[in-house]
Amino acid sequence: MTLSPGIREIMQKGPVIPVVTIEHLDHAIPIADALAEGGISVIEVTLRSPVSMDSIAAIAKNRPGMTVGAGTVLNPEQMKSAKDAGADFAVSPGAYPKLVQSSVDCGLPLLPGAATASEMMTLMAMGITAMKFFPATAAGGSGYLKALAAPLAEAEFCPTGGITPETAADWLALPNVICVGGSWLAPNHVLAAGDFAVITDHARACATLG
Ligand code: 3PG
Repeated sequence: MTLSPGIREIMQKGPVIPVVTIEHLDHAIPIADALAEGGISVIEVTLRSPVSMDSIAAIAKNRPGMTVGAGTVLNPEQMKSAKDAGADFAVSPGAYPKLVQSSVDCGLPLLPGAATASEMMTLMAMGITAMKFFPATAAGGSGYLKALAAPLAEAEFCPTGGITPETAADWLALPNVICVGGSWLAPNHVLAAGDFAVITDHARACATLG
């Protein structure tokens, strides 16, 4: 299996990858612009709403400076749809060989999820060293991931799940963490209110984390 390159470079674009569930298509561009205004150039749009794929397509087409990922990719069909929509990368909460193979077949960089040493070792055996540690807080927190740094020295992570502005710095201080993911930049209540300036404020605050 020849792995598609690029996910590590995307992880290095900033300390935080915002995870956003877009419920209204006309929010897609304002959200991307609000993040960009705050200095963030990567967005993960979860495939958890009816307009997710169209939102990814809108951002990919109209905001080429924004690196847009499809989140919650669970199967090869969604991988292909995300690629066709113009996504730059895909994120999955877990992984299995057919899913990884589909990312290779599409040429879509994948950030696959793993929560245990065995899951991480399985990915490493497939040639994957950049992973999403998910669900980061519930699976064991930063102490758990720190404990894996020595035995799994090649693995590098984007912890996601339960991370807050208050805890992000602890995660980013770990030697095996490149960036963190989180929904706190654009939470549902902020999106429901259409308060995009708040998203910019949250994005700006991330600059001091990394
Ligand atoms: C998700 O899939 O929703 C992400 O893991 C975000 O998690 P969070 O809402 O706890 O930041």
